[in-house]
Amino acid sequence: MLSWKRSRKVLLCVSGGIAAYKIPDLVSRLRKLDCEVEIILTKTAETLVSPLALSTLSKRRAWLQDDFFANSKGFEIPHIRLSEWADVLVVAPCSANTAFGLANGRTASIVEAAFLAATAPVVVFPAMNVHMFENPATRQNLKTLAVRGVRVVDPEFGALACGYEGKGRLPETSLILEEIFLALSPKRDLTGKHVLVTAGPTWEYIDPVRFISNPSSGKMGLAMARTAWYRGADVRLILGPTSLDASLHGIEVQNVVSAVEMRDRVMANLDWADFIVKAAAVGDYRADKVSGHKLKREGKETLSLDLVQNPDIAAEVGAAKSPGQFLIGFAAETNDIIENARSKMERKGLDMILANDVSSSEGGFACDNNTVRLISKTGEAVFSGGKEEVADAVWGYLAEHR
Ligand code: PMT
Repeated sequence: MLSWKRSRKVLLCVSGGIAAYKIPDLVSRLRKLDCEVEIILTKTAETLVSPLALSTLSKRRAWLQDDFFANSKGFEIPHIRLSEWADVLVVAPCSANTAFGLANGRTASIVEAAFLAATAPVVVFPAMNVHMFENPATRQNLKTLAVRGVRVVDPEFGALACGYEGKGRLPETSLILEEIFLALSPKRDLTGKHVLVTAGPTWEYIDPVRFISNPSSGKMGLAMARTAWYRGADVRLILGPTSLDASLHGIEVQNVVSAVEMRDRVMANLDWADFIVKAAAVGDYRADKVSGHKLKREGKETLSLDLVQNPDIAAEVGAAKSPGQFLIGFAAETNDIIENARSKMERKGLDMILANDVSSSEGGFACDNNTVRLISKTGEAVFSGGKEEVADAVWGYLAEHR
């Protein structure tokens, strides 16, 4: 895990929306990520989610409206002390009433007072009935917050507790976590930059039910995409077939299947990109002719396939890119790693290559860790660790050496 994600202090403010019932899951996930969590509830939130459940999960007392200026606790001035303590303040769910309070400097609730006292970044997750969310008054309050630098994350579309279907659902916990990490991210050196990443395998069909592929999971490419997003970049991901769909928040994903489709998507997005990261494990060959029906084994002891070369996407980009664009390739090697990587870098016109030894147990295909040898025109380095740590180290290297 990225070091800056560990042991962060999250002040979680819960206001009165039915989605408050999802907050124990968020607290539990934050605790598993080693974060400290303090929780404040409005009076209405207390009726929708149990303060006892929240304090049990956070291993701290939950702060209630009655603590605001209570004789017993008021001397601690909880809204000031907690706001000072926090690395990030999160309002989830944020009701229409609380959105009004935050936008208008009201301090009627302990949550509103904590928000007004906050100097840390704030992320707000509105969740409510679709018509309440779309009402110009609510839109205006949320816009006011956004203009003042608060990160306002739109609710999701779906079935709402009130019986309507529409935009108003509190997003999934994994999305909320990514937004919290975005707010906590210490570096924004890719702000304004466009990063185009390819990830995952390609499938080259030989008949309607069989294909040639490789074990790439897309994790390394997603780590490059995610860490670029944390650093402020706009990110597009051209993704081969994987099961990563749940973790793609904030990244514009364009799904592809074959190498030819991947090439077409990459070339269509090329002018947009400042950085092109080729982490995909692209099939070098495809069937010359794809059988229109399922190949039968009966009567055939052996089967020969004629394969033709796929386009070399990295080489095409290397030849077509303009001077300001930076092309990063990966090399999956099993032997003579440095020599092979260097020759790929030159042959394909890459500005940097990240060579991984895919025969080693320390990284490569489908696992969570990797070791890469970075070779660029300005120098070399080795990075090891979780795929996000490795990816973040690559962006850090680029910030220093490019
Ligand atoms: O997805 P994971 O499970 O996390 O695994 C990560 C990974 C091992 C797949 C990744 O780190 C990696 O090494 N990706 C590149 C794998 C690869 O295809 O290597 P290569 O040596 O065959 O290709 C060199 C470069 O040319 C790569 O950037 C590749 O994307 C690109 N290429 C290759 C063939 C082709 N037809 N077109 C290409 O663009």
